[in-house]
Amino acid sequence: MMMVKLFPFGVLLLLTFSATGSDAQIDVCGTAPFNTKSGTRIVGGQDSTEGAWPWQASLHIGPGRCGGSLINNLWVLSAAHCFSSTSTSGLTIYLGRHTQQSVNSHESSFRASQIIIHPDYNSNTNDNDIALVQLDSTVEFTNYIRPICLAAAGSVFTAGLDCWVTGWGTISSDANLPDPQTLQEVDVPIVSNSQCSSTYSSITDNMMCAGLTAGGKDSCQGDSGGPLVTKSGAVWVQAGIVSFGDGCAKPNTPGVYVRVSNYQTWINSHVTSDVPGYINFLGPTGSAHVVYLSLPLLLSIPPTIFSLVILS
Ligand code: ARG
Repeated sequence: MMMVKLFPFGVLLLLTFSATGSDAQIDVCGTAPFNTKSGTRIVGGQDSTEGAWPWQASLHIGPGRCGGSLINNLWVLSAAHCFSSTSTSGLTIYLGRHTQQSVNSHESSFRASQIIIHPDYNSNTNDNDIALVQLDSTVEFTNYIRPICLAAAGSVFTAGLDCWVTGWGTISSDANLPDPQTLQEVDVPIVSNSQCSSTYSSITDNMMCAGLTAGGKDSCQGDSGGPLVTKSGAVWVQAGIVSFGDGCAKPNTPGVYVRVSNYQTWINSHVTSDVPGYINFLGPTGSAHVVYLSLPLLLSIPPTIFSLVILS
């Protein structure tokens, strides 16, 4: 178990620093009052309960649909392949949305002021399939609209770890079935990159895979950009972004996701105020520690005092 042990003075310092908030989202990220799961267009999933996934965003891009996740009060994380350009016209972002059909009383909608596609996104290999969308105004957090915590650099997601993926994407590779109206959820275990490479030839370190050997559960068309999350103690952490797959939910054919933990530096280079909450995920319960301290903050602690903060 990973624990942060602090001497009393260190505790005081940490509280003082975290209260002044260089990492303002950490107190709220990954909490979902209406989520009763222990610890996701979507195939083989089920309707979610309203508010269970309060970071879920619905991106309407002209006639196209993608998912996304709220990471602080101004930014949504999504997939690069959702955008054919960085033009924000025709893009509407819904937060607090449950159904695509009837009234959503807890919803807010936004336009984008900026779309940032990863400069190294490769549409042939799908490498670096990650994008950031800046909302045109800040979001007020509610029980239905909250940011997700992000997996910090160095996080480890071992094969078999149970994750959830959510979205309004198609519920079958069969295009004849109607899209679901209600946000879908499905649980899928992590598949190792080496195992996943036996199915796909181009799995990079920036990708991760999830699915069942037998198939039957998966994300699918329209879920792209949406989050793959897992629970770390009491909070939810985003491990992946829906990216691609060969069909959906086929046996021995996992879904492929962007490995979010590889992008902490890139995300922070653009999201400079209200830095997202990062969690160094090393296992499902109690073994993760919250990364409270940003680099400037770390450097601001006198070495003598910092030496009292022992990580074990
Ligand atoms: N590329 C798809 C989209 O744009 C997502 C596909 C995910 N496929 C899968 N089998 N998990 O919505």
